[in-house]
Amino acid sequence: MKIGILISGRGSNMVALVDAVKSGEIPDSEVVVVISDKAAAAGLEKARERGIETVVIGRNNRSRTEHDEDIVRELLSRGVELICLAGYMRLLSPDFIRAFPNKVVNIHPSLLPSFPGLNVQQQAIDHGVKISGCTVHFVDENLDAGPIILQKAVEVKDGDTAETLAARILEQEHGTYVEAVRQIVTGRVRIEGRRTFFDTPAETAVGKR
Ligand code: GRF
Repeated sequence: MKIGILISGRGSNMVALVDAVKSGEIPDSEVVVVISDKAAAAGLEKARERGIETVVIGRNNRSRTEHDEDIVRELLSRGVELICLAGYMRLLSPDFIRAFPNKVVNIHPSLLPSFPGLNVQQQAIDHGVKISGCTVHFVDENLDAGPIILQKAVEVKDGDTAETLAARILEQEHGTYVEAVRQIVTGRVRIEGRRTFFDTPAETAVGKR
């Protein structure tokens, strides 16, 4: 499966996905492009170091629709079949979503539907939750709202700041994102309405040995 990754910054989730594709943990796949809306995104260099083509498509005062048209064109021209948002800090336009139905996934550093949007670790601390975590989900036209694929819980500790909690959640994000993408590219994720299910492939089904 040809994968495209969109970033805006550090790119640690992008690196986790690229490395998992290279090691075969995510099988039969290739990351064909990493696109950033920010020329200064630190992740761009990390992608290049790993031999991945990078493209910067800045917003340049254009509308979201115009900006997204350029991104969609770059993705389509490379035959991208799955788009992973990895710290991509812009909402996608409805046209983008329509161009890739059920083919855009995102990772978010809270247990959705709690705390969508920005500064979510601070929101979690301020609200007083004892458990937060991360969520990998399909992207639809609403913010952090599409069908959930995988979640991983992380304890909120008494002394946590937004930074310490973010770091502990990030440790879990990488493996969770890799596992979700592995399930998708191996054809196991089925969507029914808001819910997703992992189908067990016949050869590993219980009682098959
Ligand atoms: C991660 O916390 C991710 O969940 C959120 O943005 C952050 C990106 O970090 N969407 P990185 O760029 O992948 O290091």
